[in-house]
Amino acid sequence: MRCDQTPAWKALTAHAAHTTGFDLRTAFAQDAGRADALSQTAPHVFADLSKNHVDTATEVLLMALAQQTGLAAHRDAMFRGEAINHTEDRAVMHWLLRQPEGSLQGTLAEPLKLVHDTLGPMLAYAEQVRADAQITDVVNIGIGGSDLGPQMAVLALQDFVIEGKRFHFVSNVDGHELAGVLKGLKAENTLFLIASKTFTTIETMTNARSALAWFQAQGGSDVAHHFAALTTNVAAAAELGITTTFGFWDWVGGRYSVWSAIGLPVAIAIGAQGFRDLLAGAHAMDQHFKTAPLEENLPVRLGLLDVWYRNFLNFTSRSIAPYHSALRRVPAYLQQLEMESNGKRVDRNGHALPYGTSPVLWGEPGTNGQHAYFQMLHQGTDVVPLEFIAVKKPTHNLKDHHELLLANVIAQAQALMLGKSDAGGHKHFPGNRPSTFLLLDELTPTSLGALIALQEHRVFVSGSVWGINSFDQWGVELGKVLAKDIHARIVSGDASGLDASTAALLQRVRA
Ligand code: F6P
Repeated sequence: MRCDQTPAWKALTAHAAHTTGFDLRTAFAQDAGRADALSQTAPHVFADLSKNHVDTATEVLLMALAQQTGLAAHRDAMFRGEAINHTEDRAVMHWLLRQPEGSLQGTLAEPLKLVHDTLGPMLAYAEQVRADAQITDVVNIGIGGSDLGPQMAVLALQDFVIEGKRFHFVSNVDGHELAGVLKGLKAENTLFLIASKTFTTIETMTNARSALAWFQAQGGSDVAHHFAALTTNVAAAAELGITTTFGFWDWVGGRYSVWSAIGLPVAIAIGAQGFRDLLAGAHAMDQHFKTAPLEENLPVRLGLLDVWYRNFLNFTSRSIAPYHSALRRVPAYLQQLEMESNGKRVDRNGHALPYGTSPVLWGEPGTNGQHAYFQMLHQGTDVVPLEFIAVKKPTHNLKDHHELLLANVIAQAQALMLGKSDAGGHKHFPGNRPSTFLLLDELTPTSLGALIALQEHRVFVSGSVWGINSFDQWGVELGKVLAKDIHARIVSGDASGLDASTAALLQRVRA
């Protein structure tokens, strides 16, 4: 049943109307057990949900909504390998990439074998590159999911990254990016990884061709040693002259692909064992999502909270605040994950939805954000739920820094909630502003894997309740088609048939 037609949706609407005066301060004062009841441990991640605008009754109704929309059955269908991405007739099996070898029977045994038959050689190759002292620079050329995942993970795991190798990420078709990276490189010391699920993406193909041309112009000839393609389209890679290839499958979505061959830069950076740990952390979260009762299932609780905020409290965005500078690409990564997955306006049958879906996701690492946009979060007219991500143990010895960092993240959550009412006007903080607090013990490949899988599954949960297909992305196609047309017009100068604004811009960039 579509979510807005369920009894739970009606009950939640009524509940939201009754609780318009909900105040976090009162909620804590009235319930000594609140922090406990709304906190939980999931594999490698502790979550405090208690500073959110929910109470036990809200969670009970949200669980009813999950039941009435068939969340568990939908989740189980994904884990059975059914083609739940029905608009592309594909299964959704990024989770299979982190499933231990030989651990599944039946129809999934074969694809799982394929996964491990591919993972082994890919990790062996990663180790070979790590041992190759001649290669000092690894350049990943890819965009969207073929960039954000590996880039986010290599940065996040910087303390585990092999010494003596630098990692570069070129995504934009803007030549400033590629030219800037190439400037500092020597062909004989560089390995280019051309990462593209489809091997048709114009930005990546343009950058790959330019990188090949640069390599040859520098006197490089051993393409097999200096270029590798990470793709489901090995034939297209071969056409470009790239014969060292690592494959994956159409049942891995681009934004869910860091666990596949697309993760090769991560494997080179942190080694085969590190990559296996990343997979193991994600697998632990998969198991939690698969088996924990919905009431104690962290991705379920987070995804339902997202629905509550978006549809019943009308909070249209979520800000991500990782208090760890190595997690600085996490907001961008999550942006694609949430907004490309759940930025949909029709249900699974193609009918327009009368309710909102994906929130806007954005954010920067703390404490930087505090000195930039937190003003708006504390005193602006809109309420923006915050998601803090903190790490208990640092890997440096600057103890005083880390204490200050942790003090700031806890204080921000507290300040947003408590506010300050002893002063009026400009100095008044309304408080009662919601936040979620995620805490990792340490930032390791394992905990990062769990954190990212948690986010994948929470996006699944809200998308499932909304009744949309979270696994296609038709909304990116129109821009691609029009860019092709405008590109031809930039070359030819033909502005005929264009609207006045587009025609004028075309003339202006050509003049
Ligand atoms: O255009 C959007 C998109 O298809 C993303 O979903 C994807 O991650 C990105 O482009 C890159 O695609 P590919 O890996 O096929 O180059």
